[in-house]
Amino acid sequence: MTRTLTILGLESSCDDTSAAILRQKGDAPAEILSNVVYGQSDLHAAFGGVVPEIAARAHAEKLDICVEDALMAANVSLDSIDAVAVTAGPGLIGGVLSGVMCAKGLAAGLNIPLIGVNHLAGHALTPRLTDQVAYPYLMLLVSGGHCQFLIARGPEDFSRIGGTIDDAPGEAFDKTARLLGLPQPGGPSVQSAALDGDPKRFALPRPLLDRPGCDMSFSGLKTALLRARDAIIAEKGGLTEQDRADLCASFQAAVVDVVGKKTARAIMQYLRETPDTPLLAVAGGVAANTAIRAELESVCQTHGTQFTAPPLKLCTDNAAMIAYAGLERFKAGKQDDMHLTARPRWPLDTRAPALLGSGKKGAKA
Ligand code: KG4
Ligand code: ZN
Repeated sequence: MTRTLTILGLESSCDDTSAAILRQKGDAPAEILSNVVYGQSDLHAAFGGVVPEIAARAHAEKLDICVEDALMAANVSLDSIDAVAVTAGPGLIGGVLSGVMCAKGLAAGLNIPLIGVNHLAGHALTPRLTDQVAYPYLMLLVSGGHCQFLIARGPEDFSRIGGTIDDAPGEAFDKTARLLGLPQPGGPSVQSAALDGDPKRFALPRPLLDRPGCDMSFSGLKTALLRARDAIIAEKGGLTEQDRADLCASFQAAVVDVVGKKTARAIMQYLRETPDTPLLAVAGGVAANTAIRAELESVCQTHGTQFTAPPLKLCTDNAAMIAYAGLERFKAGKQDDMHLTARPRWPLDTRAPALLGSGKKGAKA
């Protein structure tokens, strides 16, 4: 008889409190029965970034309610949960701790296994949850907190072949919006302003393109944008709508160019492993950007590589991906005990040298 596994997932590593119920019958594709996400952007809006202490308190207040809501939405009772999977890092430590403590309480109270999950593995395994993608595959993780190329070979077997050495691209979009007085989150507002702009008006830098490898940098781009903005203000006393649109279009064009060219390099490195059916998957909020997505699709086409992007609500932070990564660990015979610790930094690939930088959304590991 094939076993049915029902996993409760918890996520609280940044500014989204999330609980999800995932069910897998035998070897059939896992089914998301519920995936409840409570965002905290209102709480942090006045501060221009995520405030760790506020985030931690909000997670602690919301986790119980979130679990109840997820159970109700899935029409599942606590006693039919087979295991609890929880983000144990990397991330803002107060939030991670809230999740880990909640998961420990549930696992102890229900006498079921506890599975600690690396948040980045949650993102990186999402294409397996949504599209049953086979190992190995290349993953580009681009969000407000993360930016890295990973070759995924197994649930805990990742090679990081490049990443940002400072800001994540989403962070750069958010800062750009802030500098131009556009609403947060910056990605969608910069993207929509860019539609009416001239991407060639400002020659913004393409950082690290002159260096080999797949590492990226976005903080210099943001500084260049600030200078371009200040030069217009000094000359004309303010910014017109057209100036804003042109700055957004020029900024977005630079990000697209850097991400596209570095992706081409990452694909070439990955193809040296000669997978039969090469595939690039993308995850993270920035994957919603239509210009970046179009560029990635075109780069993949040029290199004979399939492209896949999970639906946006599974690209951004959510507990379904944590439940799924937990399910893969559990099925591989792995689980944790009450000694599970919350980790602010937790690189997926411990062999790769540490990347610099730790942005407003926490450690990039
Ligand atoms: O993955 P995510 O929800 O959260 C974490 O960073 O963990 O990503 C949010 C980031 C924000 O920085 C947001 O500005 C960016 O994704 N984003 C976009 C777009 N939509 C969201 N960036 C560029 N273009 C977009 N359309
Ligand atoms: Zn994330």
